[in-house]
Amino acid sequence: MKFIGAILAGAVALSISASALAQAPMVIKFSHVVAEATPKGQGALKFKEVAEKLLPGKVQVQVFPSSQLFGDAKEMEAVLLGDVQFIAPSLSKFDRYTKKIQLFDLPFLFDDIAAVDRFQQSAAGKSLLDSMTGKGIKGLGYWHNGMKQLSTNKDKLTRPEDVKGLKFRIQASDVLEAQFRALGANPQKMAFAEVYQALQTGVVDGQENTWSNIYSQKFHEVQKTIAQTNHGVIDYMVITNAKWWDGLPADIRAGLQKAMDEATAHSNQLAEELNQRDRKRIEEAGKAKIQPLSKDDVAAWRKAMEPVWKKFEADIGNDLIQAALKSNQ
Ligand code: LMR
Repeated sequence: MKFIGAILAGAVALSISASALAQAPMVIKFSHVVAEATPKGQGALKFKEVAEKLLPGKVQVQVFPSSQLFGDAKEMEAVLLGDVQFIAPSLSKFDRYTKKIQLFDLPFLFDDIAAVDRFQQSAAGKSLLDSMTGKGIKGLGYWHNGMKQLSTNKDKLTRPEDVKGLKFRIQASDVLEAQFRALGANPQKMAFAEVYQALQTGVVDGQENTWSNIYSQKFHEVQKTIAQTNHGVIDYMVITNAKWWDGLPADIRAGLQKAMDEATAHSNQLAEELNQRDRKRIEEAGKAKIQPLSKDDVAAWRKAMEPVWKKFEADIGNDLIQAALKSNQ
């Protein structure tokens, strides 16, 4: 009797845990390297909110900001291994996977973020979302951050000559490397999480980034001057593992796609506002000086960086460059 009771209890426990398992939500991880109070940070949180609302009890989205789960060096590999389901690297960080996306790093290609947006929504821009499917990566959408500014630990930063011989932290991008070499500076590829310390200790003299990244990482506290160059763009592609995505139950995939679309709209609509807010905060903090540039100064930077275009034109494709240029009109 005791024996039968034990078997029955075991069977009940088994069926309870089986049904608990059947009902356990799918855990989905979204990892990124920036702070939460940035366009990407806000986009990831919106994705979680909408996905969990559209798929109640079916998915649980865990967001890991500030390189807590994976930093620049490991996040792409982690997607391919299935250790994380979504990441949104800056477009500068894809050149190992596709040369075409190097387009976005060409200096002074886009006049402003509105032009970047027009290009991303064009057929040419959308085609780049699929440019890595052969490598197991699926692009789900573009998220904006904003235009890049240049900062150093020097007082003078108005003309290209002012950065000659200086060391700059760059993202892992060959185009950015060429850009700083064209200026006669020394670029050093470095993960985002290491930049503050490198600036603070003088391992590098300067860096380039958006207002929201500069403010949220406190770069302005360890730099003297930020020149308002707007010389390039930092935007993102949200990516996932193509095989994982294609293998999802149809209702889950549709819900996640919808959540992604809403998160994209939310983050893109916020991006400019957050960058302008943080520009103001940097100004108010009074640590680094914001250096406005005249038209003539900007023309000098543009000219100094021009050789980069020729160097990468063949890899990127002239058709793509022309399509991007059209979005400035
Ligand atoms: C960087 O400078 O590495 C940034 O682009 C990080 C980010 O994701 O915005």
